[in-house]
Amino acid sequence: MKKQLGIETIELQVNEEKRRVAVRPADTLLRVLREKLGLTGAKPGCENGDCGACTVLLDDVPVKSCMVLAVETAGKKIVTVEGLKNTAIQQGFLEEGGFQCGYCTSGFLVNAYALLEKHPTEQGDWDREWLESNLCRCTGYEGISRAVAKARTIIKDKIARG
Ligand code: FES
Ligand code: FES
Repeated sequence: MKKQLGIETIELQVNEEKRRVAVRPADTLLRVLREKLGLTGAKPGCENGDCGACTVLLDDVPVKSCMVLAVETAGKKIVTVEGLKNTAIQQGFLEEGGFQCGYCTSGFLVNAYALLEKHPTEQGDWDREWLESNLCRCTGYEGISRAVAKARTIIKDKIARG
């Protein structure tokens, strides 16, 4: 890490790419992703840890990127919604129309992806609890539930085909 006038140049590993970026100590990961790395999938909603629109994976754990300082993430593995192309959860959302205005969608996609990594084939009470950290202002929760169920079907089919 190179220090200059309070600005740190750090290396982030985002969607399997190494990215070097100059950040200020108070820059959140959300702002750095959007404003310095051009990854605008994570959305600023409340920027207070309440809505989950900014969710990304940090070392495989869903976090609210508005609540994480970018300097804390140097060297850690970051996955944003842009890194979830061609995944079962993306297909599930598309096929089931799991969105209305779409503002919350990237956060739900990332969080649901992590849910399916942990529980790929079995639905349970954990689904609701897991997704409670994200809010949909359009109240499109039915579509989101269907999208997760569809993604599980896709995963099961893939497993069955070997
Ligand atoms: S913008 Fe991060 S939780 Fe709402
Ligand atoms: S689809 Fe509009 S906020 Fe969720």
